[in-house]
Amino acid sequence: MSPGLHDLTRGRGLLFGGDYNPEQWPEEVWAEDVRLMKEAGVNLVTVGVFSWARIEPEPGARDFGWLDRVLDLLAGAGVAVDLATPTASPPPWLGHRWPQTLPVDESGHRLWYGSRNQFCPSSPVYRERALALVTDLAGRYAGHPALAMWHVGNEYGQVCHCDTTAEAFRAWLRARHGDLDGLNEAWGTVVWSQLYSSWEEVLPPRRAPYLVNPAQRLDFRRFCSDALLAHFRAERDVLRAHTPDIPITTNFMGFFPHADYWSWAAEEDVVCDDLYPDPADPRSHVRAALTHDLMRSLAGGPWMLMEQSVSAVNWRSHNLPKPPGRFRLESLQAVARGADGLCFFQWRASRTGAERFHSAMVPHAGPDTRLHREVRAHGAELRALAGVAGTRVPARVALVFDWPSWWAATERGLPSDRLDPVEELFRYYLPFWERGVSVDLAPPSADLSGYALVVAPALFVLGDDDAAALTSYVRAGGTLAVGPFSGVADRDARVHPGPFPAPLREVLGVRGEEWLPAPEDRQVPCAWTDGGAFTARLWTELVRAEGAEPVAVFAETGDPAVLRHPCGAGVAWYVATLPADDAVAALAGRLLADAGVTGALPGPPPPGVEAVRRGPVLFLLNHGDTAARVPIPGPARDLLTGAAADGAVTLAPQGVAALQTES
Ligand code: GAL
Repeated sequence: MSPGLHDLTRGRGLLFGGDYNPEQWPEEVWAEDVRLMKEAGVNLVTVGVFSWARIEPEPGARDFGWLDRVLDLLAGAGVAVDLATPTASPPPWLGHRWPQTLPVDESGHRLWYGSRNQFCPSSPVYRERALALVTDLAGRYAGHPALAMWHVGNEYGQVCHCDTTAEAFRAWLRARHGDLDGLNEAWGTVVWSQLYSSWEEVLPPRRAPYLVNPAQRLDFRRFCSDALLAHFRAERDVLRAHTPDIPITTNFMGFFPHADYWSWAAEEDVVCDDLYPDPADPRSHVRAALTHDLMRSLAGGPWMLMEQSVSAVNWRSHNLPKPPGRFRLESLQAVARGADGLCFFQWRASRTGAERFHSAMVPHAGPDTRLHREVRAHGAELRALAGVAGTRVPARVALVFDWPSWWAATERGLPSDRLDPVEELFRYYLPFWERGVSVDLAPPSADLSGYALVVAPALFVLGDDDAAALTSYVRAGGTLAVGPFSGVADRDARVHPGPFPAPLREVLGVRGEEWLPAPEDRQVPCAWTDGGAFTARLWTELVRAEGAEPVAVFAETGDPAVLRHPCGAGVAWYVATLPADDAVAALAGRLLADAGVTGALPGPPPPGVEAVRRGPVLFLLNHGDTAARVPIPGPARDLLTGAAADGAVTLAPQGVAALQTES
């Protein structure tokens, strides 16, 4: 078996801890840190993320002494270490001596040191220096008893437009498009006289007088993700050569635009995420659920929440704290959705630097505080859930999500820049969440045959092969729903010719003629054909039924707004507008009926209550402000309290039950 989270959870149960930055503290503090960690039930800390300058204070020097002592101390206390390669933030000397390692923005301006993350992903000097350090780090700590996982870099997301990047981009384009003719064809450079006559002319998209070629921009997005991934791989391979049995990870950032995580996840042993739900957003818990489901799907099983906060962050413009009980609720939500690790940024609040007002597991006020007591209580209760580690969250519904579609559909020069694929994904996710229906996410190329229902709310880019696979999925008995402005462009952002959505027309039984964005403040009246009205906004389409049945129409024209098409042994739906949330909820009900899918409970949970089954445990989480009584199927025992329940449980506001059920 290849290394993975199971190596960490074996004998430890769920992982609990945080980013530990001992280099910010005198050594006397370390002993207290480790004592407090033990008392809080911490079993894993991430060490060294930003320690490059401390380890290599000048080029080629090495100071590992302090790290030896920290790791020995942690090993002695039985706290495992997720040891970071400190390459996310090079020391000032790198940029000072080798300014070409610094990233350059679209306007040609260099970004300087003095903050963090200042490197060009394509810089050979950066790569060489980083790998030299990683080689020494791996050599030194391979076999150290504290080492449990490698954490490569941090939150990969750098973008650079420099000349070195341009060269690397050209090499990437050669591999993708072959020769210049291939590039000119794919990018449609005949438009606006953009024809390239030599490779040297080809550049990353830089600041230009007007709209930049959309295919160039799409390829650059792909390239940026791949360039960072190449760097991740280079570090990973060094680590793997030294420690083949130690799992390797890096931390994702949910729906993050600068890396295509479907391609990344396949390259690491453990999928980890950093998530900071906004306490000011009343739907943050549903967004978090969606993000957790993305991580579980990327991992194909258990994943780890690498960073969350116990209270406020310091990087929004106005940083609301979390009310008592909130971080516990959020953390248990991640467990319910497949997380085997619950870690925080950071262990001890920094006194200095840019993050001194970020909350921490040990606040400035010290351990004798409400927050730290909550931390300890959470560590203790996670031990009661040890048995869920490694278990799965079964889902019969998949939401299709794809980075290239996100990128290409949020460019300029479209019929509207108000369509937001991630927001549409969320709006379709919401009714499933409300009904306690578990959902996986999947790229369009995934094998979807295991799902009863597949929903693609916003799939602008669609290759003919993926469209054919979706068609076969329906013919074989699946239920598919497709949102508007989907199947519009091929992988080079070229519009599929003919009525839309061209590659899906046959399965959807529709013939689209015009995209018709609506005035922004307009509520577009629509009607279900079997009775009842709803509104839509921002976007409509002129679509004819060609085999499909209109299920809803635009009230003013009578043209179809939602269509249903039995096809082979399955059913395909097309939604030619952005229905209001209540209409999306009604639609989800119809889709679930077609697909024969039900939720975790016999009926929908009370409003604000999340219901999700993970392995043998039914998790119920109350995100509302009032107590909620939730009917449950059969007798059960709450793993968090030990209490028996039968028929129903009552959850306090922010209350959680982890019910070991018999079914
Ligand atoms: C993350 C980062 C951490 C810390 C945290 C603060 O993006 O990985 O190092 O900065 O945010 O919320």
